[in-house]
Amino acid sequence: MTDIPSVPLPIGFRDVDATAPEACVRCLDCLHQLPAGRAYKARALAALQLVPGCAALDVACGLGDDVVLMVAAGARAVGADCSRTLLAAAQTRHSATAASFQLADAKALPFVSGSFDAVRIDRALQHIAQPELVVKEMARVTRRGGVVLCAEPDWGTFLLGGTHSGVSERIQHDWIRSFQNPWIGRALPDLLSAAGVGELQREEIWLPTHGFAESDLLFGIEDNARKLAAEQPEALDWLEHYRDGEAYAGVLMLISWGRKL
Ligand SMILES: C[S@@+](CC[C@H](N)C(=O)[O-])C[C@H]1O[C@@H](n2cnc3c(N)ncnc32)[C@H](O)[C@@H]1O
Repeated sequence: MTDIPSVPLPIGFRDVDATAPEACVRCLDCLHQLPAGRAYKARALAALQLVPGCAALDVACGLGDDVVLMVAAGARAVGADCSRTLLAAAQTRHSATAASFQLADAKALPFVSGSFDAVRIDRALQHIAQPELVVKEMARVTRRGGVVLCAEPDWGTFLLGGTHSGVSERIQHDWIRSFQNPWIGRALPDLLSAAGVGELQREEIWLPTHGFAESDLLFGIEDNARKLAAEQPEALDWLEHYRDGEAYAGVLMLISWGRKL
């Protein structure tokens, strides 16, 4: 039996350094290794339309894997994040590349207006209060005609596989409600439009997990089941069935992008 962490992952990502850096690193690494995680990220990268020598920014870059992919696509790419722990890991992991990293709050980016050709954010608006301020900042630092892109899950689409019951509904509900902005995915076009981004495009990509290990790493299933067991002991039976059965889960990723007007 594992200990229940004091902080659920979705709350940890709001302030990684002060909460659960190791769990956050494990979760990020898991997603970047999943074929479906790579697939939606590849689609987002293509939508940025990077050309050799262009300037690109990844806001809330985490461990910096997407920054390295932007460098590989020919961009002069910068990753910005508010976590010193994640940035230090990114710098160490990617020191052999031309990727650069900067400590920054996504709501007050330390870059000159219009200085990037392409700016992206991936799975971070779900954690940040007042996401509209972040998208406005992203548009501010993008040059006119440059691409601004957001990729976020919409937790209204979260599927928790396994036996359906009151327990599974509650585990699903508790997970969804631990996000700052659970329904951010469907809000992306409006946020971009309000920030002065036009010619909007949208794509939805299913992000599934298969088996207990990756489902749990990404969706905190065991933690939520064990917490619920304090109130409803049958949550432990549900967890056992889920773990021993054909465990799976998934969420829809929404990618929305356009050009700064
Ligand atoms: C789920 S991770 C996503 C990381 C990366 N974009 C990826 O796709 O792997 C969320 C990231 O948002 C960062 N973050 C949260 N609030 C932030 C803020 N106000 N400013 C900058 N980064 C923030 C966290 O430190 C974390 O790296």
